[in-house]
Amino acid sequence: MSQEIMGMLTKDAPIGVFDSGVGGLTVVREIMRQIPNEKIIYFGDTARVPYGSKSKDTVTRFSRQIVRFLQTHNVKTIVIACNTASAYALEDLEKEIDIPVIGVVKPGAKVASEVTRNGKIGVIATEATIGSKIYSKYITEINKDVTIFGKACPLFVPLVEEGLWQDPVTDEIARRYLAELIDIDIDTLILGCTHYPLIRSTVAKIMGEDVTLVNPAYETARELKELLKEKGLLNEKQPALGENQYRFFVSDGAEKFKRFANSIIKYGILSAKTINIEEY
Ligand code: DGL
Repeated sequence: MSQEIMGMLTKDAPIGVFDSGVGGLTVVREIMRQIPNEKIIYFGDTARVPYGSKSKDTVTRFSRQIVRFLQTHNVKTIVIACNTASAYALEDLEKEIDIPVIGVVKPGAKVASEVTRNGKIGVIATEATIGSKIYSKYITEINKDVTIFGKACPLFVPLVEEGLWQDPVTDEIARRYLAELIDIDIDTLILGCTHYPLIRSTVAKIMGEDVTLVNPAYETARELKELLKEKGLLNEKQPALGENQYRFFVSDGAEKFKRFANSIIKYGILSAKTINIEEY
């Protein structure tokens, strides 16, 4: 990033966060907790979800459009709160845009490689994230003595989006998906899709207490804070009362999104607006 661009970014500018839909709200929730002074512009691509079954080219094209939209709000940094988009588009976006951009995969990989005791790490994620082998790449860069077992769980995203977080149907599907990871005796399991923390209790019940669940959202928010500090962009001032600190945009179904968001984030979501992302 050029010095000139860095100089133009201001501490009180918002952070841009995006996902294919509602999953990124689990990351937003952590950012709100860990850096409460920051303003956030969130975009959920609800018209084009899921990303997990789409190609790299398509997900990268969608991500570029979203980044252009977020930049119209003069964001000071971008968080790709979607594992699939992080796996497919992060490296291109890092080269193309002039502000810091971080994904959720690297932070999750780092924690998993630190907490495993037996060196057997499981990753559950979309077909795209598993197929990209991105977690294996980052984890083995840190520690090459671990083995990573990936399992795509394509039905989890629709179950989460349908609000079936604690439901016998979700239990049954989770049991089938997770059986092989239990047989392999992993001791660490990465929730490698930002939707999955919403069914964390179901996964925890099935995996048992000896398996550590890693939610990359926590570590992503921590790394974001460090990054903002390092770049001199951390907002030290509390936003003024009445200022619209958190703004939410979607590509379809703003009302449904708003209801969903309010059940995840215990903070009144003031507005959710539909925009035509194809225009960007
Ligand atoms: N939440 C997204 C992720 O973390 C994926 C959901 C989807 O398939 O769109 O990968």
